This record gives sequence, structure tokens and C-alpha cells, in this order.
Amino acid sequence: MAAANLPPAADAAAVPRHVVIVMDGNGRWAQRRGLPRAAGHRAGVAPVRSTVRHCVARGVQVLTIFAFSSENWSRPPQEVGLLMQLLLEALGREVDELGGQGVRMHFIGDRGALPATIVAAMERAEQRTLQNDRLQLVVAIGYGGRWDLACGARQLATEVLAGTLALADIDVERLGGALSLGQLGLPDADLFIRTGGERRLSNFLLWNLAYAELWFTDVAWPDFDEQVFDLALADYAGRQRRIGRTGDQMEAQKVC
Ligand code: IPE
Ligand code: IPE
Ligand code: MG
Repeated sequence: MAAANLPPAADAAAVPRHVVIVMDGNGRWAQRRGLPRAAGHRAGVAPVRSTVRHCVARGVQVLTIFAFSSENWSRPPQEVGLLMQLLLEALGREVDELGGQGVRMHFIGDRGALPATIVAAMERAEQRTLQNDRLQLVVAIGYGGRWDLACGARQLATEVLAGTLALADIDVERLGGALSLGQLGLPDADLFIRTGGERRLSNFLLWNLAYAELWFTDVAWPDFDEQVFDLALADYAGRQRRIGRTGDQMEAQKVC
């Protein structure tokens, strides 16, 4: 797959280049209203649209959203079926609109476990938006961070066995490049947002979240809007990302 070729970040300190969102809380949002969980999943589609628009408006270059995890296969079959149906409908309905906004779509996750209709819709969306570069939208479906790491390890081991990669050449760069986002040429996450009140990663992008700033909100995903998103962005802009350095070093760097 072609690398995304991102331009340099507009203002790296203020705007996260790559935002990752765990869109959680749909089921509880519905149950609080006396509605079936399905209603929460349906209500979760509109915030995806507004979030994409807001990323474009704010200059975020990459948005990765968690739509269905490798662990979500353990949900009741009716709920899994409904989520697959909603994904298929959304892909059929939204891709032209997203493409019109300059959004390029990518999908990460174990495609082998997905219904063929979804895989075909994903491939169509990737093809149709191939030329776009305003926002890279990565949708994680059937994705798990441990699965990603296992696939990357297997790929490098295969290259070593084939004699095309020296064991000594396996390093952080090489393994990162073999993982889902690395293969797409996309950078690690800057800002991780999770809605719905839980404070955990739930096996999302374990490698690429190594130095992400974490931001949690009790707001359920169906209620996530531009105002809540801006709170996360403002919080991010105030963080000092030291990546191992001291605060004094960071200050000295600013002056230079
Ligand atoms: C997130 O909402 C959507 C998916 C995981 C597919 P949930 O369905 O997890 O909603 P809660 O956490 O049960 O409220
Ligand atoms: C994480 O949410 C996965 C998605 C949002 C797609 P879950 O609701 O499945 O996470 P856990 O099970 O509460 O950790
Ligand atoms: Mg949940």
C-alpha cells in the first residue's frame, strides 16, 4: 500500500498531528434512555462525521478511530451482526462525502475474520479515496494491538528465514514499520481520546500509543461533538511533551 506522504505538521506543539479515538459508551448511552444498545450504535455514526470535519478544520492530519476490536467478537452474535451491518451501511453511504472533503480512507485490523461484503466495501473505499491527502482517516475494524504486534513479528521472522533480512537489523524502526500504521507510512499517535468514562487502552495501538498524550472523558460517544473535541485539543496544547528530556531542556529548546 502506498505511504501517505504527510506534509510537515502545521504547528506541532499546538495541534496534534495524529489523533486516536476509542469511541466508547454507545451501549450505556442507549440504556440510560431506556433504548436498546443498537440505538446507541446508530447514534454513534453522526459524531464520526462531525469529528472528521473538525479534524479537517483544525489541521489534524491523521485520525484513527476504533470501530470494532478483536475482543468485540465476544459480544452476543446479534450485536456483532448489527455492528457489521451498520459498518457496511456507513461505508456505502459516507465514502463519497468523505472523499469530497479530501479524506483518504484506510482500514486496519484482521480482514480474514470479517464478512467478505465488508472487506469489499473497505477495499472500494480505499481505492476511491486514494488520491486524497487532506486527512488520513484510519478505521480500525477487527483490530487488536497484540494481533498487530504478532503480525509484525511474524513478517520480520519470515524475512529473516527467507534471507532478505539480517537478524541484527531488527530494531525499533523496522518493527514499527512492519505494524499496521507503519506499513501505511503514518506517524505514531499524538493524542489519545477515549469517551464513555473508562480509563483503559482496550488493546488499541499498543506500539503507536507509546508516547501519546492521554485524554479521557465521561461523555458517551453519541454525545461527542466539536466542543468536547476542542476541550481535548486545548488540553493537548497545554501539555509538555518531554519524551524523556527534562523540563529545563524543553525550555532551552524553545529559546533557541
Ligand atoms: C463502543 O460502545 C462501540 C463498540 C465497542 C463497538 P460500546 O458498545 O462499548 O458501549 P458501552 O461501553 O457498552 O456503553
Ligand atoms: C473498545 O471498547 C473498542 C471500541 C470502542 C471499538 P470496548 O467497550 O469494547 O472496551 P472494553 O471491553 O470495555 O475494554
Ligand atoms: Mg464499551
